[in-house]
Amino acid sequence: MTGKPTAYRFKNMRKTAIVATAWTGAIAALGLSAHSLRADHALRCERCMAEDAYFLQQAPVGDRFDLSKVNLSYMTQGYGSPHVNESVDGHPLTIAKTVYATGVGTHAVSTLMINLNKTVSSFHALVGVDDETNGKGAVVFQVWADGHLKYTSGVMRAGDPAKPVDVDLTGVKSVALLVNAGAAGIDFDHADWADAYFTLTPNHDGLPQAASVPVEPPRMVVPPINPLPEIHGAPIVGATPHYPFLFRVPATGIGPLHYHAKGLPAGLKINSSTGIISGSLPHNGRWDVTLLVNGKRGHTQRRLVIVGGRHKLALTPPMGWNSWNVWAGAVDQQKMLASAQAMISSGLAAHGYQYVNIDDTWEGPRNKAGFITTNHKFPNMKQLGDDIHQLGLKFGIYSSPGPTTCAGYPASYRHELQDAESYASWGVDYLKYDWCSYQGVAVGTGTEYYALPYWIMRKSLDSVNRDILFSFCQYGMGDVWKWGARAGGNCWRTTGDINDSWGSLIGIINAQAPIGQYNGPGHWNDPDMLVVGDVGWGHPHPSHLTPNEQLTHISMWCMFSAPLLVGCDMTNLSPFTKAILTNDEVLAIDQDPMGKTAKRVVYNPQEQVWVRPLADGSHAVALMNTGFQPLKVTATWKQLGLSGHLKARDLWLHKNVGTHMRAIGYVVPPHGVVLLKLWR
Ligand code: GLA
Repeated sequence: MTGKPTAYRFKNMRKTAIVATAWTGAIAALGLSAHSLRADHALRCERCMAEDAYFLQQAPVGDRFDLSKVNLSYMTQGYGSPHVNESVDGHPLTIAKTVYATGVGTHAVSTLMINLNKTVSSFHALVGVDDETNGKGAVVFQVWADGHLKYTSGVMRAGDPAKPVDVDLTGVKSVALLVNAGAAGIDFDHADWADAYFTLTPNHDGLPQAASVPVEPPRMVVPPINPLPEIHGAPIVGATPHYPFLFRVPATGIGPLHYHAKGLPAGLKINSSTGIISGSLPHNGRWDVTLLVNGKRGHTQRRLVIVGGRHKLALTPPMGWNSWNVWAGAVDQQKMLASAQAMISSGLAAHGYQYVNIDDTWEGPRNKAGFITTNHKFPNMKQLGDDIHQLGLKFGIYSSPGPTTCAGYPASYRHELQDAESYASWGVDYLKYDWCSYQGVAVGTGTEYYALPYWIMRKSLDSVNRDILFSFCQYGMGDVWKWGARAGGNCWRTTGDINDSWGSLIGIINAQAPIGQYNGPGHWNDPDMLVVGDVGWGHPHPSHLTPNEQLTHISMWCMFSAPLLVGCDMTNLSPFTKAILTNDEVLAIDQDPMGKTAKRVVYNPQEQVWVRPLADGSHAVALMNTGFQPLKVTATWKQLGLSGHLKARDLWLHKNVGTHMRAIGYVVPPHGVVLLKLWR
């Protein structure tokens, strides 16, 4: 018998504790001692352990042990769940018209690690894209043995005949089965491991057993709270003259804090005890404002640029919260208000988070005049808007250009202007507009087919006296990044829905690589809302991402200049979740006013390196380990396009790490990241 997966995970934690000595001390501040990490994971995996016991009873047939007999709940994938003897959408496994009776249907990016402990001599399969995609999708299958690539299929497209996989695994301890995207994006990447099985060694002692990526302490420290005042958040904000202006100065430090501003345009005032700037701008223009904050222990000041003009929203990516990833249909007015209040009480607002956005399922039927109403969960939308604004925060809402929303509620089709008017009357500041049922009524060809419904709503929003940030949600169709800004979008989703699995995360990260250049102030690629903290689409659970995967998630979203919409239960933030959401040095990368997105300069199945220039002349660099073992990831100046003696700072360790001449490299935990700033 092989050891239990929990034992395996504990063993790995002990091993990496050595690597981690520099920062393990400080993780205690997160309530994340190695012990509690283990306990937390064990708790989360009680079900996996019961399942493991079940799967260990699975008898092999002769010396053949089917892949479907390992515990597939350890397989992570970008969409859906793994299916035994079926495709990911539940059809018979079919590659190029050949149907296979056995195997596993999954979806890129898919990863499964299996401990063999020398019970196996080989692995066999027939692989390909499942016919259910109707000609779409492209994937690459890979088999890794003890960290070495043993098989790669090359890019396989829908319709390609199945390719045979025959890998010798004699003496191998663990094998990883990967399916990566074969082209930009992961849509339709339905991948079949057909007729997949291991050949067992004679007299094998135990059976292959699936395992999760080793859970290691997050590579970060939480710095002691700075008692001195500090100002955070967007360094530049814009608004239309004469429309309501609202900005809460994000500041930390031992209070009570007192706020002042020098150089505010006429028409704006700052509340000295809350830091809320309100009023309206007098005309188009640009004001260099100095914000001043006094605290008990000292004072600080920082520049805030205020831009007056039409369509000047989202000059840095929006930061806030959205209800979907935690509540889905269980959202209601009370939960929204509680989330807004928690944004203040948890301290997130003091680090720059400001939007509080309802997602789907608030909608009621239209009244006789054709205006949308709210359903019983939202008794008073105007009141909710007022309550959120009272806190100095901004209010977001959701609809679809089609007749119904994704969840089947009434949407804006042929009521766009009326809806824009309702939103304005409720005080809405942000609209997420989700394609969904529009598919059934779409007209036109080419870009017009995709852009028209967004353009219509843009015109409708432009005809009300309120600034409403416009967020497109149509999953990247028609290369939205190429025309989204022209159609009036402030941000646009680039992929399908995120979930709290590594497969989803890495698939979305990979999908951002070719489209970074379309980002810029006022218009941003949106790789979807965050899945750290308690998420669960109506059934909240701690994110299934490991702590290091969560660091990768936050780091990369900041490297991408992504909208940062927290997706978890705001009223129940663990110290760890709070810490990763409030690292000001990391958030400053996201909010960098230049808005130049990271480029990927190293990419192989085990590691990635990304670099982005920042407004102050420095560069942010992310070293990612996408493999299953700790790995030294190195970036050379040549790869980064840099030169000379550069100083470096580790942004999760909050530490300057010396001057470097030609390269910089660190051991990175599995699925983790090292985020650096380099400057001359
Ligand atoms: C789509 C979107 C999600 C969410 C749901 C709501 O799936 O991509 O982000 O808004 O609809 O129904």
